[in-house]
Amino acid sequence: MNAGGDGTLLAVLLLCTMPKRELPFPRSSIGAHMTYTFAKRTTGLRSSAIRDLLKVTEMSDMLSLAGGLPTPDSFPLADLRREADRLLGEYGPRVVQYSATDGVTELRQWIADEYTSILGRPIAVEGEIVVTHGSQQALDLLAKVLVDPGDVVVSESPAYLGAVQAIELFEPRFEVIPGDEHGMQVELLAERLEAGLRPKFVYVVPNFHNPSGATMSLERRKHLAALADRYGLLIVEDDPYGAIRFHGDPLPPVASFTNRVVYLSTFSKIVAPGFRVGWMIGPPEVMGWVARAKQAADLHTSTFAQLLLANVVGRDGWLDAQKARIVPIYRDRCDALSDALESTLGDQIRFHRPDGGMFLWSTFPNIADTTALLHHALQAGVAFVPGNAFTIDQAPDSKARFAYSTLSPNLLGEAAARLANAVAKC
Ligand SMILES: Cc1ncc(COP(=O)(O)O)c(C=O)c1O
Repeated sequence: MNAGGDGTLLAVLLLCTMPKRELPFPRSSIGAHMTYTFAKRTTGLRSSAIRDLLKVTEMSDMLSLAGGLPTPDSFPLADLRREADRLLGEYGPRVVQYSATDGVTELRQWIADEYTSILGRPIAVEGEIVVTHGSQQALDLLAKVLVDPGDVVVSESPAYLGAVQAIELFEPRFEVIPGDEHGMQVELLAERLEAGLRPKFVYVVPNFHNPSGATMSLERRKHLAALADRYGLLIVEDDPYGAIRFHGDPLPPVASFTNRVVYLSTFSKIVAPGFRVGWMIGPPEVMGWVARAKQAADLHTSTFAQLLLANVVGRDGWLDAQKARIVPIYRDRCDALSDALESTLGDQIRFHRPDGGMFLWSTFPNIADTTALLHHALQAGVAFVPGNAFTIDQAPDSKARFAYSTLSPNLLGEAAARLANAVAKC
């Protein structure tokens, strides 16, 4: 099985197993003519194990359960093409001109209308919304305006790796609260706050968490909101997957129970990620600083992408039809992978089936370090991300994240069979 050459395979294994502080490149590098010295804050900047793995899987006939890429079947190409043509014809040069830092009015109006209904309170087009270059930029901007070196940031564990990367650059001290199948254990956060912990913000992914697939219970959402009000906390509620629910009823966002929330979402999973358009809704004083930081970072998000998306999703009934088309694709893939893992691995694997999203979070009770399993899996032709990539300390563990979003149900069955071969070698 071609895994992109031994060198690449080794590099990936190395990146997945490397302690955080040993970088794959020197912080001060001496070239033929000059020396580059990098900022102290790069010391903790880890490489994304997932992006590194993606490089390998793109180069080979590997079956990848590693990257959580939306399925290309979900992209509404015909609608996008028709609308792009109309925009260029009817709006003319405005669609490719510079535009406002906090976002074009048409898109902010759509966001305000949607969330006035979802959050149950009026959301202002001016002051409470900033359109971002994907939710990833929202995380970067928030860390930039909120975190000084040594400040405490509370995160769930496991955690979305991209958030850890974005926040880590500003040299915080992470306070980790474990999650279970009902999301962050808010009771433990309450105990630490009681004991005097005062974080700059609390980062949560309440719907179909990446990587754990967990959904935070209604009781914990209310409890978290109550803690925010009691202790004057800021909650960062990151919700890229909420629309991809295939079982049960939607739960209200934490932001519907308190104003002390910056809520993030994105078109990446429900329309297409390549536009890089997301949004944040939050208290005007926070959004004001975020908008200034965004001016400095990129002036504004692509005018064309924003207008295109606002006009596509703004059509009556379009978003409901898009969800009705794509959610069953993810449901069937989740079922296919879950069924295949259960039948090929039996009691050698444990997981909770998620109610939505793109990820299955698994424990291998007989394998202490899943980076060893990854080594055999890559040789068997299947890739996944070891659990320790999603922790702050990166200590070896027996967890793994499997993304079922990209492969067809048949290929997911084949991937599970290859994984079973790899488990047998561990
Ligand atoms: C939890 C979470 N937050 C944020 C993002 C970033 O999304 P975007 O494509 O909008 O930058 C992702 C992407 O996978 C994610 O899983």
